[in-house]
Amino acid sequence: MAEITLFLREYTKTRRDVGAIAPSSARLCRALTRYMIPSPGRSRAVLEVGPGTGAVTRYIADSLGQLDTLDLIEANPRFATLLQHTYADDPRLRIHTDLIQEHKLASYDTIVCGLPFANFDARTTEEIFDGLLGSLRPGGTLSLFGYMGGDTIRRALADQADRERTRTGLDVLRRILHRHTFRTETVLGNLPPARVHHLTPVNPPGHAERVHPCNCPKTSA
Ligand SMILES: C[S@@+](CC[C@H](N)C(=O)[O-])C[C@H]1O[C@@H](n2cnc3c(N)ncnc32)[C@H](O)[C@@H]1O
Repeated sequence: MAEITLFLREYTKTRRDVGAIAPSSARLCRALTRYMIPSPGRSRAVLEVGPGTGAVTRYIADSLGQLDTLDLIEANPRFATLLQHTYADDPRLRIHTDLIQEHKLASYDTIVCGLPFANFDARTTEEIFDGLLGSLRPGGTLSLFGYMGGDTIRRALADQADRERTRTGLDVLRRILHRHTFRTETVLGNLPPARVHHLTPVNPPGHAERVHPCNCPKTSA
């Protein structure tokens, strides 16, 4: 209960950063951790971004093996302090109070991300995805979610400048999702209902070819 009160209090203070009125439901947590696949005999490195009060963290921590590690990166110092207390006795978890876009990332097998991307501008979104996708090991996955209908409500409430910022941010988000998502699932049992996207890095596009014809002299082959 204290967790929900803290979440709501932080939401009213920093609505745009927290980006949700309640912690994720059990169903959403299960969908977000679907690709936390066990790897017997090998340690796994997991990253959770924006853990908040730790709703998803519990699911990740439950499936960690003895040798696995979990880095948590949380911008809100009050949430980070709560997590530090909760996991003080578990050396597998490392909690960093930081903005993900300013944090030097290690490399990971699985990344679970709770960031409110719909609130970010285009540049921040690009920067964060470059960092996250770039830090995945081969075969690694990045799972994240967005609220259904969130864009429409946000656009309706925003002023002109904010609407433009939201529109360009969402365009970038859609492009990245289109390019990297291998599976999307709908979770109705959450407040509000959500879509979970599972992403994987794809190879960079081939080198662009020169568009303009070359003026070099013709050679006889
Ligand atoms: C929508 S809440 C998700 C909380 C939790 N994962 C859950 O599902 O219940 C978003 C969280 O991301 C954090 N956050 C927002 N921007 C961040 C950033 N740039 N870097 C790290 N954390 C950030 C917020 O403080 C908040 O805890």
